Amino acid sequence: MSLSYSAVHRQSVENPEQFWGEIGEKLHWYSKWDKVLDDSNPPFYRWFPGGVTNTCYNALDRHVDEGRGNDIAVIYDSPVTGTIEKYTFREFRDKVALFAGALKARGVRKGDRVIIYMPMIPQAVIAMLACARLGAIHSVVFGGFASHELAVRIDDCKPKVIVSASCGIEHGKIIDYKRLLDFAVELAHFKPEICIIYQREQMKAQLDEDRDMSWKQAQLGIAPAQCVPVESTDPLYILYTSGTTGQPKGIVRDNGGHMVALKWTMESVYNVKPGEVFWAASDVGWVVGHSYIAYAPLLHGCTTVIFEGKPVGTPDPGTFWRIISEHDVSVLFTAPTAFRAIKKEDPEGKYIARYNFSKFRTLFLAGERADPDTVKWAEKQLQVPVIDHWWQTETGWAIAANCQGIEPGPVKYGSASRAVPGYDVKVVNAELEELPAGQMGDIVVKLPLPPGTMMTIWKGDNRFKENYMTNFPGYYQTSDAGYIDEDGYIYIMSRTDDIINVAGHRLSTGAIEAELCEHPDVAESAVIGVADDLKGEIPMGFLVLKNGVDTPPEMIIKHVIEYVRENIGPVASFKQAVIVNRLPKTRSGKILRATMRKIANGEEYTVPPTIDDPAILDEISEALQTIGYAKKRS
Ligand code: COA
Ligand code: AMP
Repeated sequence: MSLSYSAVHRQSVENPEQFWGEIGEKLHWYSKWDKVLDDSNPPFYRWFPGGVTNTCYNALDRHVDEGRGNDIAVIYDSPVTGTIEKYTFREFRDKVALFAGALKARGVRKGDRVIIYMPMIPQAVIAMLACARLGAIHSVVFGGFASHELAVRIDDCKPKVIVSASCGIEHGKIIDYKRLLDFAVELAHFKPEICIIYQREQMKAQLDEDRDMSWKQAQLGIAPAQCVPVESTDPLYILYTSGTTGQPKGIVRDNGGHMVALKWTMESVYNVKPGEVFWAASDVGWVVGHSYIAYAPLLHGCTTVIFEGKPVGTPDPGTFWRIISEHDVSVLFTAPTAFRAIKKEDPEGKYIARYNFSKFRTLFLAGERADPDTVKWAEKQLQVPVIDHWWQTETGWAIAANCQGIEPGPVKYGSASRAVPGYDVKVVNAELEELPAGQMGDIVVKLPLPPGTMMTIWKGDNRFKENYMTNFPGYYQTSDAGYIDEDGYIYIMSRTDDIINVAGHRLSTGAIEAELCEHPDVAESAVIGVADDLKGEIPMGFLVLKNGVDTPPEMIIKHVIEYVRENIGPVASFKQAVIVNRLPKTRSGKILRATMRKIANGEEYTVPPTIDDPAILDEISEALQTIGYAKKRS
């Protein structure tokens, strides 16, 4: 008889060693762990110390060795190039082993870093798994980030090799990845020895003879590499995410805990079985892509889908349904923004009616708040459960979800459901007192965090402690605020820092402000996230100019928009800014962003008692009205 949700959850938090130890047995270890959890050095908890394993072996070779070599491991579906390719576990293992051989031949060893800056092509996942095979640490940088962001990551993790591609394809345009890479290497203080470039037919890149080699060239005459046994606690990857400053945080994930936790989530959270097709329509540059395109489906023996396209426009809002139907997808995982895009173009679901969904069971949404309208629309159109779940780059897998493989509870719109086993979630006030049901506060998770969550920040143990573990001793500070209802359902309402969420992409307003202030005419700036029907939120800039500036305001706005696109990247979707005389501040000089956000969104607001000069709020409102914001106000 299967256990109830509360029994499983209780066991996971009361006896985590037994809980995770039993799950760990399902994977392959060259030698078993000494203990399941080392809690001798909090907050640096370590899972399965002493265990020796290889994540790539568990994701690929294990299935081949167990007789599943001819089953499909990876489907690459690229409407932007008109390509569909399928790879069996054996074929994919061989490609990964060969590319690992190519990296090894260039001196890449256990612990070395490799940056991967690629579009959504199978070679991106091959490169990730090849690093895992060698025990090298990959750091995938999302293609929508521009050269400066890539350079910051190069300087932070100092990669021996960078793997990239000649181009990507976005909205029918060719994106010159190689140009962006070359500029990043020029900007970075640290210079990688070798760049391996996958040449795509759509545009071939010019290679630098001293530094670059093509993907093909790199593999000529190379012997495939075997899996290198690594410690469970050796890092598998670094994934940079926005912090409160311009300097991104390199989240470090281990090998052992990560593979154990991810495999378990496939059964428990997503309720999929080995052999079924799991599709995360995200990008390998994000945590969702790491966990649920590259690793979890393969660790569980499922087929994963690498999708190079958009929910709309490649070529139409029926693309998702074609893929689900054509590849027999059982579970789709994407961000609500993708469904808002589809709903906008096909509100009646006419494209949906054209396809057969016989295998499709569940839609999972994450990355941003799932608005009830979108969830209800998806339920009505697809006739399957639509499950919102909450997680973060730091955790690598869901903190709250309606676990479909344990004891699914009713859906409550606006809630990401209950804490996933492994996480002891609480809502507290600043004094760390637990708040009653329904009351908003800081969401924290009792330590230790379960396996697969962040180990530390790359070269930043102190930053790790200060950012996450200091304000609420004994707890992980999620920086999300919300409440828990009387049934244990968690409602994620907002961030408590200056992170905004644009189309499911996490951005730091501080980083955008830093770019705005680079403009010679700008004295001061503020960036807030304003509501957007499609992307959930989009950034809006406020600029205070230096005295005596005579550049036309529209030129300044055009320039700062270009700055952000050039330096942070198109992913910031920074397209709007207004010039104001002053920024509203408290008497101690703190910018009143929350009030500005309310004004911009046309929501009711009260004049904060600490404001320096209330008249500024009217000026802000007038400036916003000139660009169509701040329409209603109290
Ligand atoms: N390489 C280069 N540029 C990229 C890129 C990549 N990998 N990904 C996005 N960009 C560019 C886009 O082309 C766009 O450029 P533009 O300003 O020239 O139009 C810009 O970055 C913003 O991208 P995005 O916010 O994704 O907007 P979009 O208009 O391209 O697509 C959605 C909007 C909603 C369709 C898209 O964001 C989406 O499918 N989101 C859901 C899935 C997802 O990725 N979730 C995130 C993690 S779960
Ligand atoms: P990222 O690290 O990019 O995955 O972004 C994590 C942040 O996205 C979280 O801290 C939340 O603010 C937000 N988020 C993710 N999933 C959800 C969700 N289901 N509901 C509300 N917010 C979410």
